[in-house]
Amino acid sequence: MAETYKKLVASTFSTDFREAAEVVEEERPSPGPHELLVQNRYAAVNATDVNITAGRYDADATLPLDLGVEATGTVIAVGDKVRQAEVGDAVVTSTLGGGYREYHLVHESNAIPVPKPSPEALSIMVSGLTASIALEEVGNLGNDETVLVTAAAGGTGQYAVQLARLAGNHVIGTCSTDEKAAFLEEIGCDRPINYRTEDVAAVLDEEYSDGLDLVYEAVGGPLFDTCVQHLGRHGRLLSIGYVSEYEDGPEKITRERIYTDLIGRSASIHGFFLPHFATHFEVHMKKLMQRQRSGVLDVRIDDRVFEGIEAIPDAVEYLQSGASMGKVVVQFPEAQQ
Ligand SMILES: NC(=O)c1ccc[n+]([C@@H]2O[C@H](COP(=O)([O-])OP(=O)(O)OC[C@H]3O[C@@H](n4cnc5c(N)ncnc54)[C@H](OP(=O)(O)O)[C@@H]3O)[C@@H](O)[C@H]2O)c1
Repeated sequence: MAETYKKLVASTFSTDFREAAEVVEEERPSPGPHELLVQNRYAAVNATDVNITAGRYDADATLPLDLGVEATGTVIAVGDKVRQAEVGDAVVTSTLGGGYREYHLVHESNAIPVPKPSPEALSIMVSGLTASIALEEVGNLGNDETVLVTAAAGGTGQYAVQLARLAGNHVIGTCSTDEKAAFLEEIGCDRPINYRTEDVAAVLDEEYSDGLDLVYEAVGGPLFDTCVQHLGRHGRLLSIGYVSEYEDGPEKITRERIYTDLIGRSASIHGFFLPHFATHFEVHMKKLMQRQRSGVLDVRIDDRVFEGIEAIPDAVEYLQSGASMGKVVVQFPEAQQ
């Protein structure tokens, strides 16, 4: 009898991940000529998981929809034309539907070799790449500038803080607890702001009256407005996400059009969506992995342990609660060699 494995699918569209998600079991596939069969060891949990289950991430999504995106694991079988990998190799992958499953069939061109399947390598794949590519290729990251990062202690925020600091900038980071603020100090953030105990706009008015040069903005809502209003001359805001509005949907607001905030300061807002920057992946991935291995980058993995496919809804809700620090991951059993 063929061996089976478990994966998580959305069987209905909903921003309530638990309501949408269903564990299903299917036969373990064999790789086609250019494919690898990977036994996933860790999968990344992302703020956008609820956008995926809502059917908003991919306009062409149909049900049942395979869930999860990045994973890392061990190659356990290869197709007969595969030249770039062999059984036993560790790889990291990022494909829609490729994350929340015990086994993953992937084209060899979509698997990046890593020294071993680790949560750190996994977190670089999307969280690290987003920060690195957005800041450097779109945000024109300079030095001696004032950079503000929102959700700064989160999966991607922690990279943005460190990369901006390593480039020689003054970095402000927003977060919701003193524990996260202490973590931000540890990774080089010059001015953590716990937005539950300090008013972000008041801090920026008092301490940064020249305005912000670059903003890595991932929260949305009123915090986005505050960031736009505090852009300095030639200030650039990278709109990375709006996690505060994912569950209930974007608030409809009525106010002056956005150019009233921008033109007088030659300021700009750039939307950023990682899949549109695939040509930059290899270079940034190499640089991030090298910096992580040499200890220049402190990649924090949240210490809550989530094990197995069944634990994924708990992990997604944990991230959505805003309590996590660093990257949230789910782990699966280790591959038997
Ligand atoms: N555009 C792209 O290609 C791309 C790629 C990766 C990620 N992103 C975006 O980057 C953002 C962060 O994603 P992530 O996966 O790395 O998540 P994360 O930062 O690890 O977790 C989300 C964090 O957002 C903060 N937050 C603020 N208000 C929140 C709210 N109302 N509900 C939940 N969390 C809230 C929380 O930290 P504090 O409140 O303590 O700050 C929370 O820990 C998201 O907007 C995501 O969509 C975009």
